[in-house]
Formats: sequence, structure tokens, C-alpha cells
Amino acid sequence: MVERPRAGLSKVHMQIQTAPSTTPFSQLDAHGRLRHLVTLEGLEPDLIRELLDRAQAYLRRPGQASAHGNELDGWTVANLFSEPSTRTRSSFQLAATRLGADVVNLDLQLSSRTKGETMLDTIYTLQAMQVDVFVIRDAQAGVLQFVAEHVEPHVSVASAGEAHTSHPTQGLLDALTIHQYKGGFRDLVVSIVGDIKHSRVARSDFTVLSALGVGEVRLVGPKELMPPAGEFPGAKRIHSLDEGLDHADVVMMLRIQKERMEDAHIPDDAHYCAEWGLTAQRLKRARPEAIVMHPGPINRGVEIASEVADGPQSAIRMQVTNGVAVRMAVLASMAEARRGRAA
Ligand code: NCD
Repeated sequence: MVERPRAGLSKVHMQIQTAPSTTPFSQLDAHGRLRHLVTLEGLEPDLIRELLDRAQAYLRRPGQASAHGNELDGWTVANLFSEPSTRTRSSFQLAATRLGADVVNLDLQLSSRTKGETMLDTIYTLQAMQVDVFVIRDAQAGVLQFVAEHVEPHVSVASAGEAHTSHPTQGLLDALTIHQYKGGFRDLVVSIVGDIKHSRVARSDFTVLSALGVGEVRLVGPKELMPPAGEFPGAKRIHSLDEGLDHADVVMMLRIQKERMEDAHIPDDAHYCAEWGLTAQRLKRARPEAIVMHPGPINRGVEIASEVADGPQSAIRMQVTNGVAVRMAVLASMAEARRGRAA
């Protein structure tokens, strides 16, 4: 016998448009396990450490076969990206397939969207095909939580970068990279350099590093690319590259997020490079064993010189490797949480 739907679809949509959920949003299930990953804000340091340990266990030496598992056997992961991506999308795809999931990739157009309605239509369609995890990158702040509040109880949502606000898996993979090279966080000086104002990476990195007890975070860049006062509490703001690099243990370079700027505010590449570009000469201000990071895509000759990006202090490719492991850890944790709920 064919069961009748519990509620007419149009009625459900009316509710979504007019009545946002009133229950407070939580990424965790009733047992404190990871159901969604929309932000790193509010995650307990123990949970963060557990994710990093889990990610570390998925890493293999170069030349060895990559780690595989059956943690996501029978699961389907949908990658929904409405902004360009190379690293994040392919690493979520590899992470999911290496754990046994089916993966569907969709490019979403931003144009016709208002308040996430089109996004929800897509979500419901894919949910009807038994998608278990939605991996979403979106230029609009709030969309991730909105979707997470509307999926079926067994379905998870993982952020692949949201507006300028957050990029939780990047924050985790950066923390893992720093831990691998530096063995901890407490005594470190981490200098984040460049367009911090528009950077979701800087925000998630700051959140995770603060949770893990980092020594000092410096925000280094021109005044017009600094975040509003009140954000990044406790971080030092420095408007000189040389000063910002002095004795730093970790130098994290950022791309200028031109896509999030009004034309009039986009700095000229040559001038920017002259004042804020990281060269081997300038890197000498940092500690000799300092590492250089960049989430990519890098703009060679703008925020970073090739000699640094490809040089001995660069951890950029290790960040990419760690990205797959971190996304495996996040997806496996979601699957484990669901199995726990079902038990
Ligand atoms: C970053 C992003 O999309 O926020 N890239 C990434 O995910 N590795 C940084 C950027 O685009 O500059």
C-alpha cells in the first residue's frame, strides 16, 4: 500500500518561509556527538582534539596506499557548491569515497536564490534520493544552519565554507598541521597576514586555535582589511608586515578575497605585494623554524612569492593532505553518531 505523505509539500514550504525554527540550533545530538558541522564556535576542546586524533589516524606516509575504511558504507554524500572550489570539494569527495560512500557533486547557481528557497528545494530532492550528508559551500551567511534545521533527523550537514564567516574543516586541518609541525599550541605566536576582514579561514582558525589554547594570535595587514572591532577578541592587530612577522612560529598568508569586495576597495596587486607580500627575505624576521601556511588558492607574486610557497618552510601541501584526513574524520564521526542514535 502506498503511504500518503504526512503533510502537503506546499504546506511545508509555507512554514519554512514564514516560520523559522524556534528550537535553539545545536550541531550536536542529545549525547553530545557531532551531527552537523556548521561552525567551530562552541565546540568543546575535547571534541576538537578527538577529531584531530581521528584525522591523524587516517594519514599515511607518502608512497603508501591512502587510508580506506567502511565507516560510510551505504551512505550518500552530496557536495553542493555555489562558490568555486578545488581543494575543499575534491577532498570532501575523496574523504567520502575512501570511507565507502557514494558521492554526488552539484554546482549551484547563486543567481535565482532568495532566502535559501531554491537551496531547500534541492535539499528535499536529494534527500528523497537518500542523501545522508550535505556538504555545502555558500556565499550567504546563515544558509548552512538554515539547511541543518530543515533536514530529516538522520541527515547531517557539513560546511565547506560559508560567506566570510566560517570554514570549520579548514580550521581543523590548519590546527592539525600546526600540531604536526609544532607539537602543541600554548607557546606559539601565530601571525595571520592579509585580508582578514573577508576571510572565513581566519575566523575559523582563530576559533580553533583559541579553543586549543594558542599563545598569541596576530592579525597583520592594512587597516582596511582588518575585521571590525570586537571580532577576534584578544588578537593583536599589527599594520606592518615586518613587525607582524617578528619571532612568529606560524605565518598564515591569506588571499585577497576580491569576490567579497566592492570594486573601489580592491587593492592593486603590485602595491599590495610590495607592502604585504611574503618573500624569503621578509620571512627571515620570523623564527628560523617558522612554518608558512596558506589555505589556497595562492596568488604567486601577490600575497606570497614562489620561493616561499615552494620553499623549505612551506607547509602548504601538508595542509592539503591533512584536509582529506580531517574530512574523513568529520564524516566518520557523523556516521558514528548516527549509529549511536540508532542503537
Ligand atoms: C579558502 C576559502 O574558500 O575560503 N580556500 C579553501 O577552502 N582552501 C580560501 C580562499 O579562497 O582564499
